[in-house]
Amino acid sequence: MPRYLVVQAPEDGVRLITLQRPEALNALNTELLAELAAELDSADRDPAIAAVVITGNRKAFAAGADIREMAERDLVGILNDPRVAHWQRIAAFSKPLIAAVNGFALGGGCELVMCADIVIAGEDARFGQPEINLGIIPGAGGTQRLLRAVGKPLAMQMVLTGEPISARHAQQAGLVSEVSQPELTVERAMQIGAAIARKAPLAVRLAKEALLKAADTDLATGLRFERHAFTLLAGTADRAEGIRAFQEKRPAHFQGQ
Ligand code: HXC
Repeated sequence: MPRYLVVQAPEDGVRLITLQRPEALNALNTELLAELAAELDSADRDPAIAAVVITGNRKAFAAGADIREMAERDLVGILNDPRVAHWQRIAAFSKPLIAAVNGFALGGGCELVMCADIVIAGEDARFGQPEINLGIIPGAGGTQRLLRAVGKPLAMQMVLTGEPISARHAQQAGLVSEVSQPELTVERAMQIGAAIARKAPLAVRLAKEALLKAADTDLATGLRFERHAFTLLAGTADRAEGIRAFQEKRPAHFQGQ
């Protein structure tokens, strides 16, 4: 049983993971990150799970890496930091990851948001990379993924001043897909997860992989990957079912085949 997570499966095919360390504003200590990586690994292996929603509480999604824990690590400690491997496993999750964000998403919390594929933010959410105030820089993708998400000027402003931005600003900038009332973020994220769960699983998997390619490769390579993935899906039973269902004017029933 995880100590810092609550894991539920309230909708068919969608797992809900709630970060549960409210006394430290869900600061991401090593144990929490290890639990999260293990949960995502297990969701990746489970064919009944189509998507995962991750959330925190009304005050904080996550206020960053655990500063108390960080204070105990010197250069060699940081070099051998087990959290790096946990972050890699989180970023490698192959199914759609949807973040439902209220309150603070700072430092590692904002970096966790950027590992998600879809982001629903409550109107009161705040996104920031305040590491510069501690004499450090983001260390879990906050310089690379933030710049790709919001562009250079805003990424520079956020990382160099440490000042957070609002949910609306984050949406305009491309960090957030939808803004909702704070009490509805999880419900909306679960709805989106459930909608994805009704699609063809192999198409969902390849769509995510192809979209992520756009962020880490050149256009020609990305287009080639897309074409290969598109061609691969031509061999699936779900493609035949999707097209047949359209022609027969009925909902498609996908099997993941
Ligand atoms: C450990 C934290 C914490 C954190 C908050 N707490 N953030 N503990 N690590 N990142 C703890 C506080 O110490 C306090 O514990 C309790 O949570 C409540 O926080 P308060 O500060 O009292 O709340 P508030 O006054 O409302 O201020 C909220 C806040 C502030 C603005 C979010 O907590 C804050 O600035 N936190 C740090 C944010 C930050 O710098 N994050 C980046 C971390 S570095 P006690 O026991 O005193 O009640 C990082 C690097 C990533 O993320 C690198 C990845 C490899």
